[in-house]
Amino acid sequence: MVLSGDPVKMYARCHLIMDMLLIMDVPSVLPPAEELNMRIKKTLSSPSASHYNNYSSQATTGDEIKSKGPVKGHSDVLKEPSSLNTKPDVEGPKSRHDTGLSVYETDRSCEHEFGSYCLWARKNRRVMKDSNVKRLKDQLFVARAYYPSIAKIKGKETLTRELKQNIQDHERILTEAVSDPDLPPLVGKKISNMDKIIAEAKSCPIDCTNIDRKLRQILDLTEDEAQFHMKQSAFLYQLGVQTMSKTFHCLLMRLTVEFFKSPASIMDHISVSEIGNPSYQHYLIFSKNILALSVTINSTVLNSEESDRMVFHVLTDKQNFYSMKHWFVRHSYGNATIDILNFDELKSNHISNLDLGEMSMSEEFRISSHTISQRSPLQMGTKYLSVFGHSHFLLADMFKDLKKVVLLDDDVIVQKDISFLWNLDLGGKVIGATEFCGVKLGHLKSYLGTTMYDNNDCAWMSGINIVDLEKWRELDITGVYERIVNQLKQENEVQWRAAALPANLLAFHGHIYTLDNTLVQQGLGHDYEVSEDSLKNAAALHYNGNMKPWLDLAIPKYKIYWKKYLTRDERYMEECNVNP
Ligand SMILES: *[C@@H]1O[C@H](CO)[C@@H](O)[C@H](O)[C@H]1NC(C)=O
Ligand SMILES: *[C@@H]1O[C@H](CO)[C@@H](O)[C@H](O)[C@H]1NC(C)=O
Repeated sequence: MVLSGDPVKMYARCHLIMDMLLIMDVPSVLPPAEELNMRIKKTLSSPSASHYNNYSSQATTGDEIKSKGPVKGHSDVLKEPSSLNTKPDVEGPKSRHDTGLSVYETDRSCEHEFGSYCLWARKNRRVMKDSNVKRLKDQLFVARAYYPSIAKIKGKETLTRELKQNIQDHERILTEAVSDPDLPPLVGKKISNMDKIIAEAKSCPIDCTNIDRKLRQILDLTEDEAQFHMKQSAFLYQLGVQTMSKTFHCLLMRLTVEFFKSPASIMDHISVSEIGNPSYQHYLIFSKNILALSVTINSTVLNSEESDRMVFHVLTDKQNFYSMKHWFVRHSYGNATIDILNFDELKSNHISNLDLGEMSMSEEFRISSHTISQRSPLQMGTKYLSVFGHSHFLLADMFKDLKKVVLLDDDVIVQKDISFLWNLDLGGKVIGATEFCGVKLGHLKSYLGTTMYDNNDCAWMSGINIVDLEKWRELDITGVYERIVNQLKQENEVQWRAAALPANLLAFHGHIYTLDNTLVQQGLGHDYEVSEDSLKNAAALHYNGNMKPWLDLAIPKYKIYWKKYLTRDERYMEECNVNP
């Protein structure tokens, strides 16, 4: 049994949300390493936290901080807006907001602290754009680094609350704003509030090694700015997860140990006739998070008229396999059959010629664009998309006996009977999906290349999808997908994962049956503005976005809909203090 590895990773759901800037902005002149270096030094050497001074002086002389060396000319600092191998669409007029001021210009101590850097920054201030957005991101980063430590201190409840509130405010602003002109009018106040809170947090007598470690980690991440922000958001997301990782880890260990202690769980009492029976309703879920999974299944079963013929096939990785198996020995869900599968094993048994890597969940993308000139039809701000991960494309081979399946993401809850999906006539299409017209294929031209497609076609969402596997095999969707992925440049893991977006949209182009948009309310992991009516009436809720309902920093008013389906009857959760 393999249970090594970083506990954070195990629970982090691998939900790297990818930032994609569609329309290239005039790049910031600053190499981000340099910029970050400056700011972190500044943070750390603030007089209120004298114990950091040590670190600061170390950092300047030591080599932990990977600065990119001398500032480069701005033409080669930022070549690509995203990790994809596409040319940024720079034909559009230059952004009209070229006059952002350097943060440092107004900071008197700047020159004193940073020496010639400041002179340089002042000279080049014209291109130091969107300084407030960058400022917000920095503050968010620092605040998040402090949050877990502050939350542990007795007597700091007010500060903890304020810090959390400010973090949420910042997140909220940043989900909507890409550039300074998108920012709400009172942003200056928010920035100065956050400054105060951070200063207060820093003055607390806390063990600085945690924070120190978190801040150091990010110094290693910097490559270019797009990359940097992408990683930063993944990193921030993991920080949120980290505050819970010990308890989650405990739960996983308890369940795994119990699995091996109890003979009942080792004996597979699921009959094969149910698992392969095409007349049953087969649901497929990829998951690495037992609580998320349990809630998705529970809500689906509870809201179905009958569960006798429901089979849930859960694909998970080897770290989670035994604990999940044991969980489902302890809990039952109506009369539904639960079939836990080890993806890694299944892959090595069934698939010989395809290699789409480790198990991946649905991939989420945050697509941003600046509003450019009036003549441009593109006015979209920031949109969230989620599509199948690479692993989904092995399903048609892995489940050879099945004709139709419903795919669920584990950040979905079902509130109504969705069995009507099984009776839909897809009219020869491969998958049923809700459309997402906030992004049209034409917007993604630079990512999709010149293949034939209709610019006005909408993107679509994963979350709940009905899939005709026979049609899938007949059209060799897997082969098509694989060819597209192989054609895209993938120099690193991020690019490789990002390839899922264009490959999904192209492989299924023309093969989508549109499901009614009222079926799923999307966006509960990022959008604060969803109305109560929509929440109540949607057949399903999709918590796509960073603020997953099981995380500490979930959006509170949406969390109750999720928590409703979480069992309150699990000894190991109590013992491990798991209480999302
Ligand atoms: C499960 O099956 C039993 C026996 O067939 C039946 O009496 C019961 O109502 C079913 N329960 C649910 C929740 O469907
Ligand atoms: C399913 O949800 C109900 C509440 O809606 C809860 O009482 C029950 O414990 C849950 N069952 C499992 C197995 O999680």
